[in-house]
Amino acid sequence: MKDIIDVELKTQKVDFSKCKTDILAVGLFSDAKELDKLNKELNSKLDGAIDRLMGLGDFKAKDGTSTVIYGNGETGAKRILLVGLGEKKKATLDTVRNVAAHAAKTSVELKAKTMSLALHRAFGGRFDLSAMGQAFGEGIYFGSYRYDEFITENENGRLSSLEVELIDPDSAKLKKLKQGLSNGIVIGKAQSYARTLANRPANVINPAELAAAAKELARGSTRLSCTVFDEKQMASKGMGGVLAVGSGSQNKPRFIILKYSPPGKAASTLPTVALVGKAITFDSGGISIKPSANMDEMKLDKSGGIAVLGAMKALAELAPPVNVYGIVPSAENMPSGTSYRPGDIINTFSGKTVEVQNTDAEGRLILCDAISYAVKQKCDIIIDIATLTGACVVALGKYMAGLMGNNDRLIKDLQKASEASGEKVWPMPSGEDYAKEMKSKIADLKNIGSRWGGACTAAAFLRQFTGDTKWAHLDIAGVWSFEKATEFTSEGASAFGVRLLTTYVIGLKNKKK
Ligand code: BES
Ligand code: MN
Ligand code: ZN
Repeated sequence: MKDIIDVELKTQKVDFSKCKTDILAVGLFSDAKELDKLNKELNSKLDGAIDRLMGLGDFKAKDGTSTVIYGNGETGAKRILLVGLGEKKKATLDTVRNVAAHAAKTSVELKAKTMSLALHRAFGGRFDLSAMGQAFGEGIYFGSYRYDEFITENENGRLSSLEVELIDPDSAKLKKLKQGLSNGIVIGKAQSYARTLANRPANVINPAELAAAAKELARGSTRLSCTVFDEKQMASKGMGGVLAVGSGSQNKPRFIILKYSPPGKAASTLPTVALVGKAITFDSGGISIKPSANMDEMKLDKSGGIAVLGAMKALAELAPPVNVYGIVPSAENMPSGTSYRPGDIINTFSGKTVEVQNTDAEGRLILCDAISYAVKQKCDIIIDIATLTGACVVALGKYMAGLMGNNDRLIKDLQKASEASGEKVWPMPSGEDYAKEMKSKIADLKNIGSRWGGACTAAAFLRQFTGDTKWAHLDIAGVWSFEKATEFTSEGASAFGVRLLTTYVIGLKNKKK
């Protein structure tokens, strides 16, 4: 297996037009009346090539587009990549992240070894340079990522590495860019790490392998520790939800707990957050088996758990003053003679009993045990993230995750983190009406509701395991992957949640309550 592309990112003090590089990326707004200073300078060095291009109308600088102009010996760069930034007034930090991703993706496609980024220039003083540096870092990793570790064919392959530098002749500006860039690198790398784990198929990643990956992660950081319960330990603890879901597979379930300890000694005065992620390494549906079309996609049903691993990796490096648990229940949902069945009544870790009416509604059964575990650890805040329902994809499509919860403040904070991170969420209900649908006649709860509002009834099921703890739920079934490559990234797992969860935790106030 080969490694995914190795991206190295740094800053460099240099004149834009003199910078020696394979690709120099500069930005252009679609509604700019005239070229800005940097583009004017390049234009004159290039004998008016930018003017001619724009004059012919071949490039309109819409977002998601770019064009290459070849250097002529007057510029240090072999190629100038003009990147469209779209309309000036519509630009946000997400635009910054996306255009960096687009430039990096293009560089990989062109097999460039080095890229110099001067995209910040066009934005003027619009955004804080440090925030831009972070968005650049995240975007570069996001855009250059390709999942190709199993492709042995080397012809037309990509280079093994890409060197990217943010450039500016002004060292004060570079210094600010650099502050944010270092965070962006940590988060970007964590997201790529998560994308690779998520993209790996179920014959490569099963619950035990995922647990091994979590242990490996903890070995790499003094701030992380990892505990894994196997099926026997889960049985003695009474984690009947995870055990039932895992019972049909040869690949036994695991309960993975990562713990992040902040630097300094006053851990007990700091808030404790639990990030809980669904990690079904393959969801066949079990006895309530799914139709065969596109069933292969269900290798991505571990995406919530992996987003938690990615966030824990980033947090361990960013070292915020918060206690964080990463709790990842993992199982493979398979049909067999040992599977759990429709009609079974299971004893969950909370003590509540659940009547199984559909073995394909398995995510909530592993999550309820994990949420109860977080409640038992006296966590102040629980956020779960899961590829939970097809109904959420019907409701929101593939652009936004569903956001439910029992605490307005927490929902608002997550919405804020969503705006900053560019991973979009939309609020949905999960209260009493929905909870009523989840009552069983022969047990405390059943695991499916009526035909309608499936994302909300699923959340209402989880809500009943949260007690008095502040809780939010992210349904990422729609946003777990890109079906096709976009202008900004390649197809496959998105690792949605790494940026959002990390941004949320580092934004938490340094106080309990
Ligand atoms: N993992 C699926 C949800 C899913 C569906 C994720 C499509 C991504 C894309 C989940 O375990 C599931 O099967 N949910 C069922 C619930 C139903 C049986 C109540 C669903 O959504 O159909
Ligand atoms: Mn399912
Ligand atoms: Zn599932």
